Amino acid sequence: MAIKAERTDRTGLERVRSDRVASLVQSDIRAMTQRCLELDGVNLGQGICDTPPPELLAGAVAPAIERGDNRYTRYDGIGRLRHALADRLQRHNGLDVDPDGEIVVTIGSTGAFATTVMALCNPGDAIILIEPYYGYHLNTARVAGLETRLVGLRPDDFSLDMAALEEAAKGARALVLNTPGNPSGRVFNRRELEQLGELCQRHDLLCITDEIYEYFLFDGHRHISPATLPSLRDRTVTISGYSKTYSITGWRIGFLTAPRDMAQAIGLVNDLFYVCAPSPLQAAVAETIKALGDDYYQGLAHGFQLKRDDFCGVLNDIGLTPRIPEGAYYVLADVTPLGKSSSQAAAMEILEQAGVASVPGSAFFSGDEGESVVRFCFGKSDQTLHAAQERLLRWGRAGA
Ligand SMILES: Cc1ncc(COP(=O)(O)O)c(C=O)c1O
Repeated sequence: MAIKAERTDRTGLERVRSDRVASLVQSDIRAMTQRCLELDGVNLGQGICDTPPPELLAGAVAPAIERGDNRYTRYDGIGRLRHALADRLQRHNGLDVDPDGEIVVTIGSTGAFATTVMALCNPGDAIILIEPYYGYHLNTARVAGLETRLVGLRPDDFSLDMAALEEAAKGARALVLNTPGNPSGRVFNRRELEQLGELCQRHDLLCITDEIYEYFLFDGHRHISPATLPSLRDRTVTISGYSKTYSITGWRIGFLTAPRDMAQAIGLVNDLFYVCAPSPLQAAVAETIKALGDDYYQGLAHGFQLKRDDFCGVLNDIGLTPRIPEGAYYVLADVTPLGKSSSQAAAMEILEQAGVASVPGSAFFSGDEGESVVRFCFGKSDQTLHAAQERLLRWGRAGA
C-alpha cells in the first residue's frame, strides 16, 4: 500500500523512477496544451496536423483487415511496404536501397530514432545535436545514457557553425541531422551537407537523419537526403515516416534505411521493443505510396507554403517578427516586443490574451537563446489557422 501511495505524488515519482529517466520532465508543450484546453484556445503549440489524410489511405485499411493482415509481420515490415519504400526512395530521394535488408519499418520515426540509438550507440558515447533541437532527440539520447553535445546554429541566419561542430565532433559517436528542421525551418543545402559529410568522415561519425518533413518545402528549396552524398552513404541512418506526409500521426508508421549491418542491428531492437508496426496500417500505407502520384507531394508543398505565407503575414502585422521557414511547418516568432522575462511568460501572455497556444522557445534551446522566441505550428487546417489568425489580429489591433 505504501508503494502505491508513493507512486501518486511527485516525491514518490522521484523515488520510484530509474536513473535512466531521471532527467525527463513534462514538456512545456503539454502544459500549454492543458491551459489551452481550459481557455478554449486555438492550439498551434503541438505539432499535430489536423488536415485530413488522403482518402485512398483510409479506404485501404478495412480491406487489409478483411484480407487477414492482422497478425505480426516480419520485424522489418511487410514486403509490399518495403518494396514501395525502396521504389519511392529511389524516385524521390535518389537512394538505391535493397528492400530486403536495408529497410526497417518502425513505430513512427520516433521508434526509428530510439531503436537506432539503442542499437548503434553505447552508454557514455557522445552524440551531437544541432540547436534549436527537437526535444525527443535530446531526451531519447539521454535516456539511452549518451552524452549530448549541443551545437547552435548561428543566430543571425541559422547557418551551421562549423568551427563549433568540429570541436564537438572530437571523440563523438554520432551526429543528428534534422532536415527540414523542427523548429529551425532550415533545409540544409548541398554545400552544408558536404561540409557535414566531411566532418563525419574525418571524425568517423555516424550520421542519423530525421527527414520526417521532407515533402514540406517552400520557395523552391529542395530536400537532399544526406545519405546521397558519397561521404555519408555508408555511415548514415536515414529516418522518415508518414505521420506528417499523410497526416496520420496516430498510425505510427515510420521507417529507416541504413547499410545492411546497421539495419540488421536496428531491426533486432525493433523486434525486441515493438515486434512490428501495425500490420493493416502498413498495408494501407503501401497501397497509398504506390497509388499517389507526384502531384500529391507537390500539392503538399504548395498548400503549406500558402499557409506559411498567410500565417507569417499575420505575425508581421502584429509585430512578432517571424523567422521565415524554408521547410517543415513551424515558425519561430520574436516575442521580445512583449517585454516578458521568459518565453514561457510570453507564450502564456499570447494564450491568455489572444487565445492562441504556442510553445516557448526554451523548449528548443539549452541556453537563453530560446527566451526571445515562441514556436507556432502552421500545419493545421485552414479553418483552424484562420481562427488563430483572427484572434491574433484582434489582439494585435487591441494594442498588444
Ligand atoms: C523532427 C520530428 N521528428 C519526428 C517527429 C515524430 O514523428 P513520428 O510521428 O513519425 O514519430 C516529429 C513530430 O513532431 C518531429 O517534429
